[in-house]
Amino acid sequence: MARLDVTETFHGITFPGHLHTQDSLQSALRFPFQDTDILIVSYPKSGTTWMQEIVTLICNRGDPHVCQTVPNWTRAPWLEQHYCAMVLEKYPLNPRVITTHLPQHLLEPALQGSKAKVIYVSRNPKDVVVSYYHFCKMAKFFPDPGSFQDFLNQFLDGRSYYGSWFDHVKGWTRQTETMSNLLHITYEEMSLDPHCAVEKISAFLQRPLVEEELNSCLKHSSFSSMKNNTMVNCTLISPEIMDHSKGCFMRKGELGNWKSLFTDEQNQHFESVFSSRMQDCSLKFVWDLL
Ligand code: A3P
Repeated sequence: MARLDVTETFHGITFPGHLHTQDSLQSALRFPFQDTDILIVSYPKSGTTWMQEIVTLICNRGDPHVCQTVPNWTRAPWLEQHYCAMVLEKYPLNPRVITTHLPQHLLEPALQGSKAKVIYVSRNPKDVVVSYYHFCKMAKFFPDPGSFQDFLNQFLDGRSYYGSWFDHVKGWTRQTETMSNLLHITYEEMSLDPHCAVEKISAFLQRPLVEEELNSCLKHSSFSSMKNNTMVNCTLISPEIMDHSKGCFMRKGELGNWKSLFTDEQNQHFESVFSSRMQDCSLKFVWDLL
């Protein structure tokens, strides 16, 4: 299995080599989606794992058994990673919950005409880049992120692993205008009003919950529950792959944590790049209003 080299790209995008191969990426683009599939889509560090937990809980009517016994990469595997086909075959899921960080233009052909339900999660990019920076320090499958300034420059230039945040968000959110089977929800909405967010997701999935089930979903998808859940907190990942002495996957779970790392100058530069890159995006983002 030829794993991607650190500098090797796929459609101009770099991906962490230990999980991706040219073949696995190529297969993702041809994936035969079923109409009953649920696809969770996000740019890294936007609340992917949180959404995996919420969707699993909704599909199990609030029962935490699956969340507490099956790792998230088995119950909601990443489409583009090399083990996905094996997992889907070995652990038949009903419904299949699949996760991806791929940009919209790459998945468009595979999703064409499909009724699979797509949930797109976005997050304030300033919090994304800070979360991503800390993650890269502990994840050994990423190159050393260097200084935050260097990492931020890469992010703003679209040179980060998984590609440009701007292109990702614009590509997927543009689809909300035409795809009725796509729900766009933000990390911020989930954080500010989790009850409303879970209700919205369960309605979108056409899996209504009674109050008791909904409360159980909220309890088991809270930051504190997930921080202690070894099926999602990455502590099962060996130290050769993730250096747990350098940080914690369930790190802060806060809104506005970027303020702990950004200088005023970095913030001004970010704002100017953001307004120029998002000029052609009509969407008003929740984090702008906070
Ligand atoms: P921080 O690093 O800012 O704490 P992803 O799953 O896309 O990699 O995103 C990881 C980010 O989501 C981390 O952000 C993590 O702490 C946060 N997160 C995970 N579960 C959460 C939850 N239940 N509530 C709030 N934030 C959560």
